[in-house]
Amino acid sequence: MSWLRGKHVLLTGGSRGIGPFIAEALARRGANLALSARSETGLRAVAEALKPLGVRTVVIPADVAQPAQRAMLVRAALDAFGAIDVLVNNAGLETEGAFAATAWDRVRETIEVNLAAPMELTHLLLPQMLERRSAHVVNLSSVGGKSGTAYDAVYCGTKAGLAEWTHGLRQELAGTGVCFSTIFPSYVTEAGMFARFGVKAPWLAGSCTPQQVARAVVDAIERRKVEVIVSSQALRPLLALAALSPALGDWLVRRLGIVEFQRRKAGAPALPVQPDPSRR
Ligand SMILES: NC(=O)c1ccc[n+]([C@@H]2O[C@H](COP(=O)([O-])OP(=O)(O)OC[C@H]3O[C@@H](n4cnc5c(N)ncnc54)[C@H](OP(=O)(O)O)[C@@H]3O)[C@@H](O)[C@H]2O)c1
Repeated sequence: MSWLRGKHVLLTGGSRGIGPFIAEALARRGANLALSARSETGLRAVAEALKPLGVRTVVIPADVAQPAQRAMLVRAALDAFGAIDVLVNNAGLETEGAFAATAWDRVRETIEVNLAAPMELTHLLLPQMLERRSAHVVNLSSVGGKSGTAYDAVYCGTKAGLAEWTHGLRQELAGTGVCFSTIFPSYVTEAGMFARFGVKAPWLAGSCTPQQVARAVVDAIERRKVEVIVSSQALRPLLALAALSPALGDWLVRRLGIVEFQRRKAGAPALPVQPDPSRR
């Protein structure tokens, strides 16, 4: 029997995109779900679709960019279920475009949603998780959090921060019964922020389906996996190469057309290449 049966899960980003797939996969394992996002209508539609699976669902609309609403969300989830066994930090904001042209408010909002919110929700839920010595926190990062990509620098920065914060915390809390997993999806097809662009990812960059991401979340919880890359391509060798030689990694992603793909996807103007004559 799955460890998830009868457990209480708080899932953010449950209204659309990959979230409903994660919700369904968890519900199929018998988990009760507190679904959160800003759109109450979206959340209610997802909860309605889960009814045949016979699990308990509660809908808690909240804007996780707002610290007061994060506290309200946690209070409402604890009031509904008494305890939260699993937190899935899935809500995310992609802020593509040239960094210099991105409004600072948008940068700050991305940091709040992608990084500060998962940290604060975990901080608020940890005391009861540690007390009961059995819980799991899953954070949705991205392969962009392993190796940054052009025209997505803010997003990648938040996802790398999320991954390394999780990394540190799982070492700090090893043996307490509170486990941590980070999921690194590549470009997700069919639903979610990348699919909305309606473009095809470069073959070597890899892609995956929302169902594969949802399965990875369930698998990470049941098998206590610390990190899962979800991709059609074996990205680890590429990522290892980029980590060993960042300059070679930069050259490779340019040669593979990933920088240009990202620029076109973001609709950013091409920059004139102007080598600095004093640094030849
Ligand atoms: N799609 C991909 O290719 C891909 C690849 C790698 C990683 N990921 C990660 O996977 C996760 C889900 O992405 P997705 O593709 O499903 O994105 P999505 O389709 O844009 O959905 C984002 C979800 O987050 C919620 N959300 C956004 N801002 C929020 C806010 N301020 N407060 C509360 N909820 C908020 C949205 O709901 P409301 O609008 O109703 O609030 C929605 O449910 C993200 O963390 C993303 O970074 C996605």
